[in-house]
Amino acid sequence: MSPTTLVTGATGATGAAVLAPLDRRSVAPRVMVRDPGQAHRFPGREVAVADFDDLAALGRALDGVDAAYLVTPSSERAAERQTRFADAAVAAGVRRLVVLSQYAAQADSPVRFLRWHAEVEAHVASLPVEAVVLRPNLFFQGLLAFAGRIAATGRFGAPIGDAAVSAVDVRDIAAVAAASLVEPGRAGATYTLTGPRAVTHREIAEALTAATGRPVAFDDVSPQTFASALREHLPAWQLEGLVEDYAHYARGEAAVVDPAVEDVTGRPATDLVDFARDHAAAFEQGIVTVP
Ligand SMILES: NC(=O)c1ccc[n+]([C@@H]2O[C@H](COP(=O)([O-])OP(=O)(O)OC[C@H]3O[C@@H](n4cnc5c(N)ncnc54)[C@H](OP(=O)(O)O)[C@@H]3O)[C@@H](O)[C@H]2O)c1
Repeated sequence: MSPTTLVTGATGATGAAVLAPLDRRSVAPRVMVRDPGQAHRFPGREVAVADFDDLAALGRALDGVDAAYLVTPSSERAAERQTRFADAAVAAGVRRLVVLSQYAAQADSPVRFLRWHAEVEAHVASLPVEAVVLRPNLFFQGLLAFAGRIAATGRFGAPIGDAAVSAVDVRDIAAVAAASLVEPGRAGATYTLTGPRAVTHREIAEALTAATGRPVAFDDVSPQTFASALREHLPAWQLEGLVEDYAHYARGEAAVVDPAVEDVTGRPATDLVDFARDHAAAFEQGIVTVP
């Protein structure tokens, strides 16, 4: 029997995207879902139902696993959940752990998400496991959160000014994750995952205009305006974290282009223009289909 690979967060953005490149490598992963009602989304796959907060269920999900992809949703408890999972993985005999972190993760960062990711990275580095850390920059697919607004108004806004960000396509993150799960010799690697160039939000608007054939405009808004538009929809920690993230982008701290996607996958990282073309329907109709 071939060794088992576990994909956590399989209903989420990156976890769902990891399945296709694993299939292309003829690796049939076990998928971990929190909600048993989501198991039907994975016909023909082995599904483990486990909550990151349920150690016994994690033990069952990790039973017989050789390599695991670890992603939790952004949350105040992300570091606690990820370190617990990593410990459980080591206890279960997992040999290789691929951890989704974030570009510029750093223990003393002013951005809380980057501090939390750094805490997990440090913990995983101390464990007897072949660890690979993925540090993606802003996901292009995060722009899909604006799809409804863009379809309705032709505009979107963020507190970023003219700063460029080397945003990355989730499909590239997934391709690197799959390679890291399967290929030997990557233990201890930390891959910074970016697109092929740094782009401003005005360039993003131009790319969406070209892809959809409808004008899309970008508004540079103040952090206060951004926060008040989201206050009803997000808890305080997430809103404050998002504002910190955008301040980091606006300071030009997320513009470096890294060759890791091409180095690992053997093909260039996906460009903004290709992302916009592939998702034009979502930005035209304001409908985002679940992965
Ligand atoms: N967005 C960006 O631009 C960006 C950039 C760099 C790094 N990141 C990092 O990316 C990570 C998020 O990745 P993502 O976008 O792939 O995730 P995501 O789309 O938020 O999905 C999270 C997954 O975790 C599952 N989940 C939620 N709570 C759970 C629990 N208690 N137990 C077990 N599973 C649970 C969700 O299942 P349900 O569907 O059942 O809820 C879902 O499958 C964060 O760590 C963030 O810091 C994001």
